[in-house]
Amino acid sequence: MRKKLLLGNWKMNKTPSEAKAFALAASEMVDYAVAHNIEVGVAPTFVSLAAVKENINPKCIVAAQNVNEHDHGAFTGEVSIAMLKEVGIDWVILGHSERREYNGETSPVCNLKIKALLAADMTPVYCCGESLDTFEKGQTKEWVSKQIREGFAGLSAEDAKKVVIAYEPIWAIGTGKSASKETAEDTISFIRGVLRELYGETAEEIRILYGGSVKPANVAEYMSEPDIDGALVGGASLEPDSFKGLIEGMLK
Ligand code: PGA
Repeated sequence: MRKKLLLGNWKMNKTPSEAKAFALAASEMVDYAVAHNIEVGVAPTFVSLAAVKENINPKCIVAAQNVNEHDHGAFTGEVSIAMLKEVGIDWVILGHSERREYNGETSPVCNLKIKALLAADMTPVYCCGESLDTFEKGQTKEWVSKQIREGFAGLSAEDAKKVVIAYEPIWAIGTGKSASKETAEDTISFIRGVLRELYGETAEEIRILYGGSVKPANVAEYMSEPDIDGALVGGASLEPDSFKGLIEGMLK
């Protein structure tokens, strides 16, 4: 049985004190989620990670939004795995479409990051998803298949099952135009098919989230689909009330 997962991607929002305020307000809802068998987490910016980690319910996952694949060295502006580990972080989002677009993060680079994270016993959340143009041309499956194959290149089944995938159609991110549950399930079950081809039965153990304008009001629809294991949520994860609404929605 794949455990349900709700992950809030805060993007470039919240100062450390604002992030701390959320962390303090979230204690009960984290307990509530965990008691109902839902794993929950938030991904603040690098400068807020320590403040959140120190103040949030320890059952809550705290994830970074990126990491560098190298150990250390002349990489100005970058953050290493060891740096994250020292502040208690063991989850990292990789390959978000915004980082692919604005920071040149490619699937082969994500593959290096995934391998480095797994070697450090950390959990990568690998994002994939197509543009509106690709969607309208009917090339979504070809596109995400390439992203998955490149991101997972060289991973054993044992490693692959430690990776969480987030399928986020770019046209649905921050636009209020979420993909229908049928569209999301169609692509996510296709992704599971690609994983089955690569890893056989192990594909059934790999969690795949949907992301893109998920809200308290629509999260239940996605959760009703057999291959969707949770959600990666941006805008609706920023306020404690809305985050709580997402947890409640996942239980409907
Ligand atoms: P959104 O963002 O929920 O604001 O659409 C999702 C994401 O980018 O992870």
